[in-house]
Amino acid sequence: MNADFTRADRIRGLDVSEIVQISEQAAALRAAGRDVVSLSTGEPDFPTPDHVIEAAHQAALQGQTRYTANSGTPALRAAIAAQAGVTADKVIVSTGAKQVIANAMLATLNPGDEVVMPAPFWTSYADIVRMAGGRPVVVPCPMETGFKLSPDALQAAITPRTRWLLLNSPSNPSGAVYSSAELRALAGVLASQPQVWVLSDEIYRHLSFVPFTPVTKAAPDLRDRTLTVDGVSKAYAMTGWRIGWGIGPNALIGAMGTVQGQVTSGASSVSQAAALAALTCDQSLLTTRREAWQARRDRVVAALNAMPGIDCPAPDGAFYVFPRITAAMAATGHPTDADFCRWLLHDHGVALVPGRAFGLPGHLRLSFAYSDADLTRGLSRLAAALETR
Ligand SMILES: Cc1ncc(COP(=O)(O)O)c(C=O)c1O
Repeated sequence: MNADFTRADRIRGLDVSEIVQISEQAAALRAAGRDVVSLSTGEPDFPTPDHVIEAAHQAALQGQTRYTANSGTPALRAAIAAQAGVTADKVIVSTGAKQVIANAMLATLNPGDEVVMPAPFWTSYADIVRMAGGRPVVVPCPMETGFKLSPDALQAAITPRTRWLLLNSPSNPSGAVYSSAELRALAGVLASQPQVWVLSDEIYRHLSFVPFTPVTKAAPDLRDRTLTVDGVSKAYAMTGWRIGWGIGPNALIGAMGTVQGQVTSGASSVSQAAALAALTCDQSLLTTRREAWQARRDRVVAALNAMPGIDCPAPDGAFYVFPRITAAMAATGHPTDADFCRWLLHDHGVALVPGRAFGLPGHLRLSFAYSDADLTRGLSRLAAALETR
């Protein structure tokens, strides 16, 4: 029998994500008076646009303060559906993209069902799958492959128990963006595997520095078994508003609604009004911000590649870099990326996340969703740590 009444088997071995743990350690060091620069979190430093805040304010004043329909307000679902070229019944609005992914896994996985995820992957994927009773099947996609899944590697990972392939383009943490041809090649493998569905997490699609293709466009034959995940958190700097959505076949969206109806009900009414304003107002900020992200990316990649033992490819999207650090680990006497990041945090006051948190050790993730001043301080601490070893 499970001796710990507060931990069911389904959450045994799960903990808060390593990203959150590092941010908390950084905060604790700061509270103890230490000067720590954090480059560990994926949260835009830009403010939420004023017109979005104003729309939320007006919605609250006008009485949009009650429960909304479980799957989202008709207006927001319609706006999302119109952008995606589908009908609104194929859309569910949830409390962040994270809840969309959790809903999908809870709705569909039976114990032991397998979910293929190319590594590096966003930390929460594996734990959400485990929590839902599934088994993450991690396929390492090293730097030499551009951090991308090949058709052969996908083929080799599929078994009769495979239910999902989780794709994330642009990727957190690698920034890899799948081209249309690459997506078609993966779809070719899935053509003969009708039991495998695709969860395409496109939350960074507006932050792509190369042409971006949604899975449903590259592979229309997969449309009947693809769940597209998106939200306002990253593109519109709205992480705290907690609005994400899923777009997929009616039966799946319905099943996800069943889960959501028992966990949270509809997402926050005021936040949905804010998300509607973000989606329907002038979109030029997306271009301005993408240019700003790209300038930061160039600066960060150049700075990292000038440091000994760091090999940093330029990401094609999102706001992270995922350099290989094995030479720096060896030179500084740190056997693992986690030791290396702990040393950087405690001895040099800079918080970064080890690659192992994303299923690909020997790397670290640096988020450049921080002010130029923080980036300057963080990068110079890292350079100093590596030069004074
Ligand atoms: C790849 C990826 N998907 C989903 C999410 C969750 O986003 P949300 O804030 O909408 O829950 C994140 C957040 O870090 C992410 O990086």
